[in-house]
Amino acid sequence: MILFKNISKTYKVGDQEVKALDDVSFSIEKGKFTIILGPSGSGKSTLLNLLGGMDRVTNGTFIFDNQNITDLKDTELSNYRKDVVGFVFQFYNLIPSLTALENISIASQLTDNTSESEEFLNKVGLSHRRNNFPNQLSGGEMQRVSIARALAKKPKLLLCDEPTGALDSKTGQKIIELLKEASKDKNVAVVMVTHNNEFKQFADTIINLKDGKISSIIENK
Ligand SMILES: Nc1ncnc2c1ncn2[C@@H]1O[C@H](COP(=O)(O)OP(=O)(O)O)[C@@H](O)[C@H]1O
Ligand SMILES: [Mg+2]
Repeated sequence: MILFKNISKTYKVGDQEVKALDDVSFSIEKGKFTIILGPSGSGKSTLLNLLGGMDRVTNGTFIFDNQNITDLKDTELSNYRKDVVGFVFQFYNLIPSLTALENISIASQLTDNTSESEEFLNKVGLSHRRNNFPNQLSGGEMQRVSIARALAKKPKLLLCDEPTGALDSKTGQKIIELLKEASKDKNVAVVMVTHNNEFKQFADTIINLKDGKISSIIENK
């Protein structure tokens, strides 16, 4: 589904250049759970932002479902974000003035893939919290709402940047199990960024990043 070929990303800050990714190549299949592991500053978020079409590569080729994403115009890239990608962020990014259910509805309204928000709230075990606002929910509950919101778009690619980074380890574990469950859908690929080694066991593939380069790719049998 995904092919990353010799990808580099350089940020320009004033007259300085920061090479965040340096000649990175890998592929990802449908129905797989991939973890991107590496220390802070190794390029994990940069990699995820490129996969999500939120930023553009400096060099290299990015293919998704036989389409060259590198060549897309801005409007086409925006459609890719809207129709293909679901995002889960470390700090949830829920809209504070909307209830749990409304936060989920708003995402599914963006796409033509109409779906039942209730169904997804149910899937993450939060039907009873449907009318609660984010500030009435715990961190773990907010993250579950944000996963339901991402899934309600029926994405082909679910991208998660440190989704457990703000949670205690037990709650974090539950979130990972939910993402693992989502990856069992044969048409979806889940890619999660983390610096937590303990989550390795859940992944089909672990891509280790160091200083903007891939140091190893491990397949879990
Ligand atoms: N928008 C940006 N502008 C300039 N430098 C950036 C930007 N985003 C990230 N960087 C730099 O790129 C490197 C990789 O960052 P990042 O991808 O956020 O790493 P990670 O998510 O692994 O912590 C770091 O040196 C960081 O300071
Ligand atoms: Mg990061």
